[in-house]
Amino acid sequence: KTSGPLAGKKVVITAGGTVERIDLVRYISNDSSGKMGFALARAARAMGAAVTLIAARTDEAPPRDAGIDLIRVQSAQEMHDAVMARWSHCDILVKAAAVADYRPRESSDSKIKKSGSTMTLELVKTTDILESLGRIKDKQFLIGFAAETGNAEVYAKDKLVRKNLDLIVANDVAMEGAGFGTDTNIVKVYDAEGLVLDLPLASKDEVARRILRLAAERVAGALI
Ligand code: PMT
Repeated sequence: KTSGPLAGKKVVITAGGTVERIDLVRYISNDSSGKMGFALARAARAMGAAVTLIAARTDEAPPRDAGIDLIRVQSAQEMHDAVMARWSHCDILVKAAAVADYRPRESSDSKIKKSGSTMTLELVKTTDILESLGRIKDKQFLIGFAAETGNAEVYAKDKLVRKNLDLIVANDVAMEGAGFGTDTNIVKVYDAEGLVLDLPLASKDEVARRILRLAAERVAGALI
């Protein structure tokens, strides 16, 4: 498909939860199923974009449609490298992935043996991918997500400014029907001026379409 409001645009979507290895058989991750990111990838494609989907661990199989280029990654660092490699050719980037904020300082190539009655795992900060992109942003349109449990508006607006984003999608993941694993979401979208979309319970497909419409209006000047 080469027509539609995002025809000729290159869209990069990240999805799923990163996997931070403790050892060969154990890791730290989160509850992201990949559904929100997959819905965004399908919606961007349906609007005519050439899509790159960078997916970490997911519960579901990613879409394999023509026009969606799939890249699998594990850790926050691998996601960082995959995003950076595509950044200069990208028009719109949506970071729906749940990226680990911390990873184990060391990871073992073999299974760690059980020993003492307690065990301490030292964690170090990962690189914040969105923040790095915000710093080097040129023509790209950058959309972040904020997964919060309470005070979503305040934290989301802070992330919008601090990470130099064009839009932020706030979801209060403590609300029934919103956030991790569900087929629906409840979101509020902000730009630098304030609230631009307030979407009560809707399917992730619908949420994805509405977010990308906002992007298309701003990037391609499309009136939808
Ligand atoms: O996958 P699903 O089950 O469908 O669930 C969807 C979702 C809840 C995962 C999704 O809607 C969502 O909110 N994704 C963002 C989750 C998240 O990591 O939020 P955050 O507030 O911790 O991070 C803010 C933003 O910074 C996110 O866009 C995140 O991708 C990005 N980030 C975070 C840490 C990091 N090291 N690098 C990043 O780029």
